[in-house]
Amino acid sequence: MSESQSQDPKQKTALVRHDDAEAFVISLLQAEGVRPDDAKVVAKALVQADLRGVESHGINRIPSYLARIRTGGIDPLAVPTVEMVTGCVAKVDGHNALGPLPSLLAVRTAITLANQHGIGLVGVSHSNHFGMSAWLVREALDAGYISLIFTNSSPALPPWGGRVPLLGVSPIAAGAPAGEKSGVPFLLDMAPSVVARGKVHKAMRRGEQIPLGWGLDSKGRETTDPREVINGGWMMPIAGYKGTGLAMMMDVFAGVFTGAAFAGDVTGPYDTSGKPGEVGHLVVVMKPDLFVSAEEFRRRMDVLYERVVGCEKAEGVDRIYFPGEIEQLTEERRIREGIPFVQDEIDALNREAERLGVEKIKVVENP
Ligand SMILES: NC(=O)c1ccc[n+]([C@@H]2O[C@H](COP(=O)([O-])OP(=O)(O)OC[C@H]3O[C@@H](n4cnc5c(N)ncnc54)[C@H](O)[C@@H]3O)[C@@H](O)[C@H]2O)c1
Repeated sequence: MSESQSQDPKQKTALVRHDDAEAFVISLLQAEGVRPDDAKVVAKALVQADLRGVESHGINRIPSYLARIRTGGIDPLAVPTVEMVTGCVAKVDGHNALGPLPSLLAVRTAITLANQHGIGLVGVSHSNHFGMSAWLVREALDAGYISLIFTNSSPALPPWGGRVPLLGVSPIAAGAPAGEKSGVPFLLDMAPSVVARGKVHKAMRRGEQIPLGWGLDSKGRETTDPREVINGGWMMPIAGYKGTGLAMMMDVFAGVFTGAAFAGDVTGPYDTSGKPGEVGHLVVVMKPDLFVSAEEFRRRMDVLYERVVGCEKAEGVDRIYFPGEIEQLTEERRIREGIPFVQDEIDALNREAERLGVEKIKVVENP
């Protein structure tokens, strides 16, 4: 089945070119009072998620970001600031800006520090949801650096043995530049839950059921109804207490350590009560040639890649992928063919356009 066909026969699919998606998001954000350069950063982050097939964190997030701006939860004009802590450590204060702004500033600062010292460590407080972590890993990869990108997030699952959501399903992301031959970087970006909560929101948006095992309802029962997970239920951690341990790790490193909110106090990206997100991030950027030469590093990455994808395959498996490779292939295809959205999603985006008096999103005619 091609990407321009929806899996749900009730839902028509529309294709949107990535540059049209970006222009649309920029126009919405600017109409809501965001500066043009800041709007570009946010749009690029969201569209990159759609390009990589991470639709849970793509432009369909824009109505919730706009709602948070309108209700005072996010300051559309805030300018994040940097303060040095030691020679290779800095602190970014997001001042309650849209999450992509302080997080990008943190990565760029960490790259500068890593360039001078081999490693750069940046803690971020007073931030908001930054979307898909991979776009920040990519920023470091494009500059040739290894990185760890941590964030905390709003309560979505209880500690192991509990029954009240407390920890975020906060993604753990890491990247290392590609070898010379493979051209495929290592890019792991994963929530500590079976799937990201955004995938449950996506199913709810599209009127679809979710597989058993993704989440529980408010009574702790397994459910296939995404609404029951979002409204009072919680997400399933990966590998039981190990998943909740990883979720807590993100809260320690990105929350407790950086001075941001933690232990259930982070405000969610769909909250419209006017409360700031108080999200925390931690960024570590490292030069790949700290222990072996740059050339040797690339050669070793090629060895790893070749051995991983060349591993003898289990029955029924066509191909083994490196972390991030499926998304890289999706991105290459979607740049050529466009990004598929279901009609309900296009309609929701266009309702924002009408409300703000900007042009509707441009879809590809006769895909
Ligand atoms: N900002 C936030 O608060 C927040 C919270 C949760 C999740 N997220 C985002 O949600 C997104 C989705 O998270 P997820 O956990 O559902 O991701 P996922 O399960 O789709 O993928 C996780 C990782 O596994 C790799 N992978 C997938 N299939 C593979 C295969 N067959 N072989 C080898 N590797 C494979 C992917 O490349 C990726 O690195 C992420 O981009 C994450 O940053 C953001």
